[in-house]
Amino acid sequence: MGKVYPQIDVRTGAPLPADFTVAQRHGDYSAQDHVTWETLFHRQSNVLKGRVVDEFFDGLAALNIASHGIPDFADINRVLARATGWNVVAVPGLVPDDVFFAHLAARRFPAGYWIRKPTQLDYIEEPDVFHDVFGHVPLLMQPRYADYMAAYGRAGLAYAGTPALTHLARLYWYTVEFGLMQALAGLRIFGAGIISSAGEAVYALADPAPARVRFDCERIMRTDYEIDRYQRIYFVLAGYDDLPALQPAELDRHVAAAASEHPLRPGQLIDSDITMTPPPAPAAAPQPAAH
Ligand SMILES: [Fe+2]
Repeated sequence: MGKVYPQIDVRTGAPLPADFTVAQRHGDYSAQDHVTWETLFHRQSNVLKGRVVDEFFDGLAALNIASHGIPDFADINRVLARATGWNVVAVPGLVPDDVFFAHLAARRFPAGYWIRKPTQLDYIEEPDVFHDVFGHVPLLMQPRYADYMAAYGRAGLAYAGTPALTHLARLYWYTVEFGLMQALAGLRIFGAGIISSAGEAVYALADPAPARVRFDCERIMRTDYEIDRYQRIYFVLAGYDDLPALQPAELDRHVAAAASEHPLRPGQLIDSDITMTPPPAPAAAPQPAAH
């Protein structure tokens, strides 16, 4: 049973074009919509301090993605396009895989234009403008990441309709959405799914429960994931140069190797894993001696 995608722009009743893009219509947001953005922005900016890769806050600042309301995509694109050739385009929700891949390959990031209701601050089923723009767009200013995302789109188009898409989806999940990165200053959040979640931003770095394993492309391509709970395993990039170039020959090798092995359950460890322990919790203040 295939997923049902939207057919029309519900704001205008107009049929959607083949690429599923719509106008953002920035003037249509309500005062409440902007307040919701502001609330989420403050909450996440605070929790991410000292936890996220530096390039995230650099990107926010460069693109003027800030607390003062939902950004106008046109303002973002004026800076982003000049920096790395990317543009943000508005879509009504999830789009079919082939449409998504074609956008990425053309350096267009499809972002949901709508924002969650005030009663849904902690959980939404489909990505909204906060997840997509706050979570994903700042890192598109980082050249190596920008290239990786476009290469991912080309790979998706190349593997369209084949079982290899399962392997590719795992790679996206464990890097773009839920990746960690070892920075000089310590372990840092990298993936947008963690960046836009108040609870997982703390859990991913410090909770003793999940495994944290050195990034390995083939190993990731074997690893199933769960979309409805905090992750049981995170993969840790050593830096942006760890992101695979996804050239066709290299990718074919990775996919063939992953497909030749049985899939791994989320959180299952194997002998070749290089695991990392979470940073120690801050030392507790000395307690006065008991009498
Ligand atoms: Fe996402």
